[in-house]
Amino acid sequence: MRNPRDFGKPLAVGAPEPLLDVPFKPSRMIHFLDASNDKMVAKVPDIARKTDILLGNLEDAVPVDRKEAAREGLIRVGREFDLGETQLWTRVNSLDSPWVLDDLLRLVGEIGDRLDVIMVPKVEGAWDIHYVDRLLAQLEAKHGVQKPILVHAILETSLGVANLEEIAAASPRMQGMSFGPADLAASRRMKTTRVGGGHPGYVVIADPSEDGGPRATAQQDLWHYSIGRMVDACTATGILPFYGPFGDISDDLGCEAQFRAAFLMGCVGAWSLHPRQIEIAKRVFSPDPDEVRFAKRVIEAIPDGRGVHMLDGKMQDDATWKQCQVMVHLAELLAQKDPELAEAYGFVTTTGS
Ligand code: GLV
Ligand code: MG
Repeated sequence: MRNPRDFGKPLAVGAPEPLLDVPFKPSRMIHFLDASNDKMVAKVPDIARKTDILLGNLEDAVPVDRKEAAREGLIRVGREFDLGETQLWTRVNSLDSPWVLDDLLRLVGEIGDRLDVIMVPKVEGAWDIHYVDRLLAQLEAKHGVQKPILVHAILETSLGVANLEEIAAASPRMQGMSFGPADLAASRRMKTTRVGGGHPGYVVIADPSEDGGPRATAQQDLWHYSIGRMVDACTATGILPFYGPFGDISDDLGCEAQFRAAFLMGCVGAWSLHPRQIEIAKRVFSPDPDEVRFAKRVIEAIPDGRGVHMLDGKMQDDATWKQCQVMVHLAELLAQKDPELAEAYGFVTTTGS
């Protein structure tokens, strides 16, 4: 047991004080960058304008002989590029890998003040977060980092799913979690070969009919249970849930359906592995203008959030009022960043013209 009174104290003398609330900026997409590729790095100023979060990936998908180049490239991005309001994250290598220690030592030492969040893959339990938590505090103290670097866990092992709540509550440094369907499938020994999305074999089927005619089937969602658990664990502890990767880059519709299911269930964003997925995430994770307008009407109709009211034949009460607040607050936040959305939502922008 950790003394709850110590939860808000730094884990190393000289480290910044932990944040007790997770800061929330627009987080609709986490765009993955391979910074070992100079051509990709040259595109950073352009990509940073389009994405809410830019993440330098050091883990899977980066070949072993480019691990160090990816780390050095990310340090260059952190030092040389002004990303404006776009957050800078990294995904470090897994905690049992030969690279992770140097990932953390180099990144915190060189760009600790630029990094908002470190994504830790294959987290299995609270002990993984405790390890990173203390090490980051020591490194922040050593390098005079002024604000705490937050930690984001990828939920991608069966043990991680079993320990979800403990992971979410392990430290005030926990910022959120992403759902990692590819590693999770492997860890669970699922019989799939994909990165996220549905599977045509995972269906329910109608009963046989007397005339022996064809039986209707409907594809089911392989990920519903785990994403639901992740959303509950995250929101119960005040951290942010994200959907992770959708690997079939050419399947925009499939990607959009996966992202939308996650959005409706409570996720705030998803990964983008290709610029075209930035656009999909933006479309999905920005609430629909019609829904926002309706939510505003509900809030106006029940100004104090109490009681019952009929709107377009639908009952509105304290609970729908709260749902509408969630929708309108998110819309307001996104409108501050995006004048087009501000207009679509019917908000007046503070940035003028
Ligand atoms: C992401 O890292 C995944 O394994 O799906
Ligand atoms: Mg993975």
